[in-house]
Amino acid sequence: MTTPVANSGNSFINENHIHLLDHLSQFARIIEKNWDQGEFAILLANFIIDIDNHFSHEELILRGVGYTDLEDHATKHRELGLRMDLIDSSNVSHENVDSIISDIRSMILEHELFEDQQYWPVFEGHILDKHSLIPWSPNFETGDPDVNKEHQALLVHINHFFAKLKQEKDITRACEELKLLAAFSRYHFEQEEKHLGENLRTGHAANHQKLLADLDNLIDEISEGKFNLNNPDSLSDYLTFWLLNHIKTHDVPAFARE
Ligand SMILES: [Fe+2]
Ligand SMILES: [Fe+2]
Ligand SMILES: [Fe+2]
Ligand SMILES: [Fe+2]
Repeated sequence: MTTPVANSGNSFINENHIHLLDHLSQFARIIEKNWDQGEFAILLANFIIDIDNHFSHEELILRGVGYTDLEDHATKHRELGLRMDLIDSSNVSHENVDSIISDIRSMILEHELFEDQQYWPVFEGHILDKHSLIPWSPNFETGDPDVNKEHQALLVHINHFFAKLKQEKDITRACEELKLLAAFSRYHFEQEEKHLGENLRTGHAANHQKLLADLDNLIDEISEGKFNLNNPDSLSDYLTFWLLNHIKTHDVPAFARE
């Protein structure tokens, strides 16, 4: 059992991460509907405040649980904050706003996916070790270290989801974890498609879209209570298949062709 402090800390951070991504999507929607330079500057400034607040909440919780690499992590927060501050809204136009928003999304997702995962063991490392359902295997290696790193991070996320599910059968929390998995997966698929470029086959990109749609359906079904969370084995069979089968049948051959 984790301590109540660690537990609440971690779900608080989770909620924060979801909120940040929602805030960014809302921001993107407003700008897409009605481009206005002044409005963009205000929305961006508010979003930067939101990120700063998140960083300081996260650091406070990590300090509270005695995370030993906190200083390093806080430096990464400052670097990311600096990169956000360097966005000069006077240089942003209707033509380049989409790519600026997508860069912001990438910065945040990369930090959450790779750097925030580093502190997870502080909250539930011992649980993860015991219940790591799906171990990484050399069969999943694509030959590209960056892609492997992203795949491993997604696998850690799925294992983390099951570790949490074994601890508490909470539908809302389960859906939150899966929503984050969906955001990270969408980001990974976009990066992979860019990386493969001309080597990307139509079936591969279509399978990414299908995986995202399936995951959205699964989240809806869980939130409607259609899954018995007391028996997570059917979900684990599904999610194992969801990620690893795609890696084996699409990613490994695609990168072998590169
Ligand atoms: Fe974070
Ligand atoms: Fe962080
Ligand atoms: Fe893929
Ligand atoms: Fe992939």
